[in-house]
Amino acid sequence: MKRLFLALVGVAVMMACSTASQLSDEEQKAYDFADELIKKMTLREKIGQLQQFTTRTAAITGPDGVKRDTEECIRNGEVGSFLSIRKTEEMLRLQKIAVEESRLGIPLIFGYDIIHGCRITFPENLAMSCSWDIDAIEHSARVAAIETAATGIHWTFSPMCDISADPRWGRVSEGAGEDPYLGAAISAATVRGYQGNDLAADNTIAACVKHFAAYGAGQAGRDYHTVDMSELMFRDRFLPPYRSAVEAGAVTAMSSFNDFMGVPASGNKWLLHTLLREELGFTGFVVSDYNAVHEMVKHGTAADGKEAACQAMNAHLNMDMVYGDYIKYGEELVKEGKVSEKSINQLCREVLAVKYRLGLFEDPFKYGRQNQEEVMYRAENLQFAREVAAKSMVLLSNNGVLPLKEGVKIALVGPLADAPRDQLGAWIGWGEAGRSVTIRKGLEERFGAKNIIYAKGSDFRAPIKGGIEEALRAARKADVVLLAIGLSYKESGEATSLTEITVPEAQQALLDALKKMGKRVVVLLGTGRAMDLRNEIEKADAVLLTWHGGTMEGAAVADLVSGDKNPSGHLTMSFPYCVGQVPVHYNNKITGRPRKGPEHDKKYLSRYMYTPNEPLFAFGYGLSYTEFDYSDLQVLTPEVALDGVVKVSVKVKNVGKRDGEDVAQLYVRDLVAETTRPMRELKGFERIALKAGEERVLEFEIPTSELAYCHQDLSFHTDKGEFLVGVGADSNVELTGKFTIK
Ligand code: BGC
Repeated sequence: MKRLFLALVGVAVMMACSTASQLSDEEQKAYDFADELIKKMTLREKIGQLQQFTTRTAAITGPDGVKRDTEECIRNGEVGSFLSIRKTEEMLRLQKIAVEESRLGIPLIFGYDIIHGCRITFPENLAMSCSWDIDAIEHSARVAAIETAATGIHWTFSPMCDISADPRWGRVSEGAGEDPYLGAAISAATVRGYQGNDLAADNTIAACVKHFAAYGAGQAGRDYHTVDMSELMFRDRFLPPYRSAVEAGAVTAMSSFNDFMGVPASGNKWLLHTLLREELGFTGFVVSDYNAVHEMVKHGTAADGKEAACQAMNAHLNMDMVYGDYIKYGEELVKEGKVSEKSINQLCREVLAVKYRLGLFEDPFKYGRQNQEEVMYRAENLQFAREVAAKSMVLLSNNGVLPLKEGVKIALVGPLADAPRDQLGAWIGWGEAGRSVTIRKGLEERFGAKNIIYAKGSDFRAPIKGGIEEALRAARKADVVLLAIGLSYKESGEATSLTEITVPEAQQALLDALKKMGKRVVVLLGTGRAMDLRNEIEKADAVLLTWHGGTMEGAAVADLVSGDKNPSGHLTMSFPYCVGQVPVHYNNKITGRPRKGPEHDKKYLSRYMYTPNEPLFAFGYGLSYTEFDYSDLQVLTPEVALDGVVKVSVKVKNVGKRDGEDVAQLYVRDLVAETTRPMRELKGFERIALKAGEERVLEFEIPTSELAYCHQDLSFHTDKGEFLVGVGADSNVELTGKFTIK
């Protein structure tokens, strides 16, 4: 009785939602088309559209699914989508079966994880976010979409909008770091890049807002783990990037694996319906994460697959990824009155509408028909990948050893020095290690092969026999050592949680040995996550964070170490002092006993006994070969109306000897609020290029709506009151300005 009641409420809410949403003409047209088609469909065919499978030959991105006869499913209308097929001919072949041999000829939609590039692999997403270059990030998604469309894939499972401040979690590599404001700008740009202005064009693809929601806040950094936080915290710190991706028009979303405040996301009606659709205005379709519907049985909130499907359908989850509970139990659930046919119609029309908007009904084969030779690896796109990789790299320390002098002899050592696969990082789409410009190759091209003496020195986690000796021999012949160390691609991405986030011992031994012989050592750190770098910072003459920099990483490294380009990346995730601080992020709450200034060592303060509160490198941090001076901060609007715009100006001067780029960052602090506020929050930024000696006045405009926060009653709005403001090159900037919202 209770279940039936819930089911009927589900329908009522869903129908209310579809009438209440403001649909664009394009959306309306797509829904009208879908509604007509639905009239011709059997219940099983409708449920078929809600089922996504993988095939026996597809790439594997999760645990083994149930094996089934792909072609029969298509002919019977029992599947609406496939994921992870990496062969164009195979997709076209299956599409042909769908269109020609199924009763209604409804086209399939093919999805895949195109996360940071398709063929051309860009730096991992966390790295790219450190460029703070929103246009470049949008363009990288555009390039990825153009290449992807040529493969036959219609739909990418990206952007990942999960905020995380926990580098134990390997998937931080797929996100934009710890800050909701920057994360929101990046997720919207990524959606725009994929979807372009015309979803029906043959070089745009559907985006997917994932993982809804708060997947990045899993307990203790363990993947798939429980997420439990106040709704207030969720709305303030985690929701903004999802919201902005929806507002940018993403046509699909993915429910996350985790439970969220006690209810698995895939059966969480508050998340998938009330929040996502009614509040954020999402009008596309939601796919579950891999097997996540059935995993509600393991979560212990569904007795079996049938109950899991029932919960997911009634929570407004449109498509079941892989496991198959939807197609297996959907009809029974309707016949038993546990899910209404109206609900199925609604779920189905949302899937069909996206297929329609992609233009698949008009021409089911328009993706994958392009001449791949012409589309992939275009020279201008490779050049762009090189530039964005250089912009993503962050110079963490430098005693003057960088940039290297011309004619220098370089010993290039370490497991990442010539590692074509590792530099691509996790989730490489259709990327190919064979196309990687490794660090070795990049340096040989820039400095001449005879000036590069290469020795691997060590594997990632184990020494290699004679490796250290070989490295020392190389170093003896050289003026300087470039030591490319860090984590392998297998230690980045999904299911790669770590409790130690230091460089593995075998590689630290290399650093120790090289340092002991007295050579200058530059560490090139390759990683997809923030790490504890105390050892490297202490011992190396410079540390350049190269990340997993993608196809063109080696060329970008050569650009930077040679000084042809000036490092300009700034961290978007704090690098902890040690793992015990984690999660550590700049936008902490203040507490009633903040530790600050001369009160440092007093008892009864919010501090660690033997460890600083601050991370080793704060959010926003990054050096270059020149210096930027920020001065003369002026609040141009000391008093602002509640619906006004705050204006702040600051002078920035390149006071060094080289041209360079910096990221000017604006932070505010709300001094007194109804609920506790962070010590500071990013509310504006601008990437600027200044010639040596050049000075510019920057002006920032912050609509007061950007200062909204979550109140005790969970309403989200801006209050009157006083704020501090500051602009500088990292999150430690002094907040010397003041304004009042009246
Ligand atoms: C991941 C998703 C991904 C999906 C499909 C899952 O394991 O969590 O991010 O999109 O697989 O490959």
